[in-house]
This record gives sequence, C-alpha cells and structure tokens, in this order.
Amino acid sequence: MSTALLKFDDLVCGYGDTMVLRGLSGAVGPGRVLGVLGRNGVGKTTLMRALTGFLPLREGAVTLGGRDLARALPHQRLALGMAYAPQEDVVFGDLSVQENLWLHLDDRDPDRYAACLALFPRLVERTSQRAGSLSGGERKLLSFTRTLGLRAALSILDEPTEGVQPENIERMVALVRARKAQGASFVIVEQNLEFLLAVADDLMAIDHGECLLKGEAAEFGREALEAHLMV
Ligand SMILES: Nc1ncnc2c1ncn2[C@@H]1O[C@H](COP(=O)(O)OP(=O)(O)O)[C@@H](O)[C@H]1O
Ligand SMILES: [Mg+2]
Repeated sequence: MSTALLKFDDLVCGYGDTMVLRGLSGAVGPGRVLGVLGRNGVGKTTLMRALTGFLPLREGAVTLGGRDLARALPHQRLALGMAYAPQEDVVFGDLSVQENLWLHLDDRDPDRYAACLALFPRLVERTSQRAGSLSGGERKLLSFTRTLGLRAALSILDEPTEGVQPENIERMVALVRARKAQGASFVIVEQNLEFLLAVADDLMAIDHGECLLKGEAAEFGREALEAHLMV
C-alpha cells in the first residue's frame, strides 16, 4: 500500500535474547483503523512498543508518512504525529484529572477535549481529583481522552476498553469513528471483539509473534475470529 500512513516491515524484537516478534508486517492507511487481536502474551503490546520506539528493533523498519523512524525517539514520533496510549501505567496518579489532560501541552485550547468530555461527564465531575483515585476503567477513559486530544494523525491504543463500562465503550466507538471521518488513523489492540469490529477497517491477528491472519475486517466472520482468537 503506497499510500500507507504507517508501515511496518518484518519487525523482529523482544526482551534480552528472547525475540517476541518474529517478522511482523502491516500498514495503516489514512482514515483507517487497524485492529490487532490475539490471546494474552502473544506480543500485541510488544508490537505497540516497537512501533512507538519504546523497544529497539532487532530487525525490520517502521515508517510514518514515508519517513523512516529508525532514529526517532518516542517523543520525536509524537511530534511527527504518532500518539500512544499504553496498556499499563496510563495516567499520573498523583496529579489531578485536569493536570493529566494539560500537563504535556503548550496550549490550553479547550476544543481539544470538548468531544470526549461531552461524552464522559464522569471525568468532568472529577476534574480536580487525583487521577489515582479513579477506577481502572475511568483511568482508561482519561488516557483515551488525553490521547485523542493530541489530534495525532495516528493514534496507537493498547486495550483502551479494559475495565470500561459498556455505555462508555459505545461512546469510545463514536469518538474513534468521528476522528476517522476527519482522516485520522488508529492502531488498536483489543480483547473486546465487539468494540474492535465496530471501529476496525483492517484486522491483524497475532500468535506467538507471527501474523495468523490479516485483511479487511469485512472478510472475517465474527465466529471465526472468536474461535481462533479467544481463549
Ligand atoms: N518487559 C518485559 N521483559 C521481558 N519479557 C516481557 C516483557 N514484557 C512482555 N514480555 C513477554 O513478551 C511476551 C509478549 O508479551 P506482550 O507483548 O505483553 O503480550 P500481549 O500484549 O499480547 O499480551 C510474553 O511472553 C511476555 O511475558
Ligand atoms: Mg498487552
């Protein structure tokens, strides 16, 4: 796909001498969502760390908008338009909800968060509370909101719905679709197949650091995905 925003080719990487990813390739076009599926421990989070530069590659390449990211550190990738909401350690617990939202930004443009905060009143109610006092699902919502507020060309979300209430998951679907309609792209790791199928254009399933299946989401039946991927 020559028009891909993000491209990753033959990624090999891991921890110490153990290679977790064993030659993964994929691409994400503008305004598209790549959903990444797989059982626990197969390397989904490791792939996100490889894309975002938190883990060095042993082999392979990542490009964003045609630019090779080999030398780009995580904060430089963010400046180039790649935002990341990791699976763990999603907020600064000692800071307030509000501080979490504004800490990393130079401007105070309220429009950044308007769409998310309109749908997540819980965060507005708790704006001056310590983020550490939020439930796990609320912290995920805060991380999701902060990441969408960056208005990045590409957002990488690792299990964004983990612990989130069903009504808020539906709102997350609406927010991702709205960003997509504006041309934004996403890579989303999820265990929640319903959420993923509601937003994904393309799917990629991983097992043992290798690609099990890849293609347009519409090609795959839900039952087949469940049978292959759920424990
Ligand atoms: N920081 C780490 N150090 C060593 N091994 C790790 C580390 N993080 C993950 N792993 C191992 O890498 C493999 C893939 O983990 P991960 O990418 O987190 O899987 P997933 O996100 O699909 O559940 C697992 O065997 C896990 O134990
Ligand atoms: Mg993970």
